[in-house]
Amino acid sequence: MKDRLEALRSEALAQLQEVADPGRLNDLRVHYLGKKGQLTEVLRGMGGLSAEERPVIGQVANEVRAAIEIVIQSKQAEFERADTARRLAAETIDVSLPGKAPAPGGIHPLTKVTQEIEDIFLGMGYTVAEGPEVETDYFNFEALNLPKNHPARDMQDSFYLTEEILLRTHTSPVQIRTMQGAGGKTPLKVICPGKVYRRDDDDATHSFMFHQIEGLVVGPNIRMSDLKGTLLQFVQQMYGPQVQIRLRPSFFPFTEPSAEVDVTCTQCGGHGCRMCKHTGWIEILGCGMVHPKVLEHGGYDPREVSGFAFGMGVERIALLKYDIDDIRHFYNNDLRFLSQFARM
Ligand code: PHE
Repeated sequence: MKDRLEALRSEALAQLQEVADPGRLNDLRVHYLGKKGQLTEVLRGMGGLSAEERPVIGQVANEVRAAIEIVIQSKQAEFERADTARRLAAETIDVSLPGKAPAPGGIHPLTKVTQEIEDIFLGMGYTVAEGPEVETDYFNFEALNLPKNHPARDMQDSFYLTEEILLRTHTSPVQIRTMQGAGGKTPLKVICPGKVYRRDDDDATHSFMFHQIEGLVVGPNIRMSDLKGTLLQFVQQMYGPQVQIRLRPSFFPFTEPSAEVDVTCTQCGGHGCRMCKHTGWIEILGCGMVHPKVLEHGGYDPREVSGFAFGMGVERIALLKYDIDDIRHFYNNDLRFLSQFARM
């Protein structure tokens, strides 16, 4: 039995010497030292030994196990060292290489212009209000003095979700929500920025989704001259003190009287150029005195208070400010376009 153990040792050590990978090493460990391994197999025969032989053979068996274990351990350590060396070699970094500069993001031009417009009105004492983009027919039309079948509904071709629910076509429904929320209190001075949706075919000047900013002021004795002064302040802060405005009579169901506002061409200063189609003027927003019916829907008594409202397209304001010729640039996420505004 002793011979068999010695033979097992030399066989195992010889094989271990050859091992070249950790998988094979483990196989050999199981083969020789495992529960069903060669060593156990030999030791099964211990039962047939005499009382004198047993401790002697037991000691030899322990020595053989220890000898094999030592080799396995050193092999294992060898593999681990090699592995570490390989990883270190693969992961070496050249600290003298130039670093990769992180590309800083920038604020989207539409966000920038929205913030700028907000800042101008915040400076005049307005607060910012928001409302849902999925709106009821009541808030989007009905309460704004556009009953069902009103021909002016055609001005804003809508995306309906159900008979009564649609994607808002303008930010004016936020007027009603804000007035109702104010519970009759005055003065009310808000601007309402947000996305709006219309069934337009997309082209250089139209998009099915765009951004508006609505303004609303309600209080005693609010007059058209307040509206005009406010808008003049706004455009001069936005485009420069040389810019003038003019109001042209227009029609909106929710304001009476209504006007469209032009600014002197931001390109030619009013002399006439291609951008203003040689008129010297460019239209930028719609406005008017809040219609009595709309005030009533908002919970105000039109005999006691009056108000003005205006609504502008953020894209249009931005196109003029940055001299951009196609609204689609705002939505295509082309970094060559967007990065121009990153540090402005
Ligand atoms: N809601 C109008 C539009 O989208 C703009 C507007 C707002 C006009 C407020 C007058 C007053 O066309």
